[in-house]
Amino acid sequence: MDKKIAYSNVKNFFDSRACDAQGVNSTMLQKDPNIASERDMAEKEILLSLTYDVQVNDVLDLGCGNGRLADLFKNVENYVGVDFSENLVKLASERGLGTQYKFYVSSVTELHKIENICETQYDFIVISGLLIYLNDEDVSKLIQQILTLCNEECRIYLREPVSVLNEKLSLIDHYSQELGTYYNAVYRTEAELLNFLNPLIVNGFKVAKRDYMYKDLKLNNRAETIQKYFYLERIR
Ligand SMILES: C[S@@+](CC[C@H](N)C(=O)[O-])C[C@H]1O[C@@H](n2cnc3c(N)ncnc32)[C@H](O)[C@@H]1O
Repeated sequence: MDKKIAYSNVKNFFDSRACDAQGVNSTMLQKDPNIASERDMAEKEILLSLTYDVQVNDVLDLGCGNGRLADLFKNVENYVGVDFSENLVKLASERGLGTQYKFYVSSVTELHKIENICETQYDFIVISGLLIYLNDEDVSKLIQQILTLCNEECRIYLREPVSVLNEKLSLIDHYSQELGTYYNAVYRTEAELLNFLNPLIVNGFKVAKRDYMYKDLKLNNRAETIQKYFYLERIR
């Protein structure tokens, strides 16, 4: 049986990285801060290219971290960010964004407990770098929950590092020399990830786009994983 991630370890890890409000490396986990900035810019460019001609009203950003991507949604009516790291959410709340922004401290496994979140039907959902920190059963539950939270017309932006090893790579209480601490994450293959998305497909979503996140090889600096994004749409 697969060993499971203990979520308290992930939460402590991210709480301890939350040091810099405007910096991006609290959540980009790069040794070289320049690579973190370049990755940040590359992702924002892609997200902007996906959304520039789309009417977005209600955004749900799951595992929003320090609100790095929140800045891109200044024109929407309602942006909700959720993350279980109090320290990262504090940084997000201090970004000085408008009154349409709300950040909540919660695990994404307990979204149902936040009434304010569940009363909205979102038309844009961001899941960037989150699923690797969830055990399989919680990925499945989250996808099911997303189905109850999304509007009839909805887009989902998912960015994940995927395993290129032909099998899932599980790092459970793994000491990372690079990070100088213990680290937990599950890197699924692209096929495994797409399998988790199946309930969305069955419920009318299409994978409108999927591609490598970083065209510049220098930004893809891990041997066993590669960053990909998946853009799903349900348009009636
Ligand atoms: C790699 S960071 C990405 C943050 C942000 N989406 C970004 O792209 O900058 C992963 C984030 O997921 C959050 N996270 C991990 N597991 C979570 C869970 N079960 N519930 C809520 N947040 C979680 C972490 O605290 C962290 O902020």
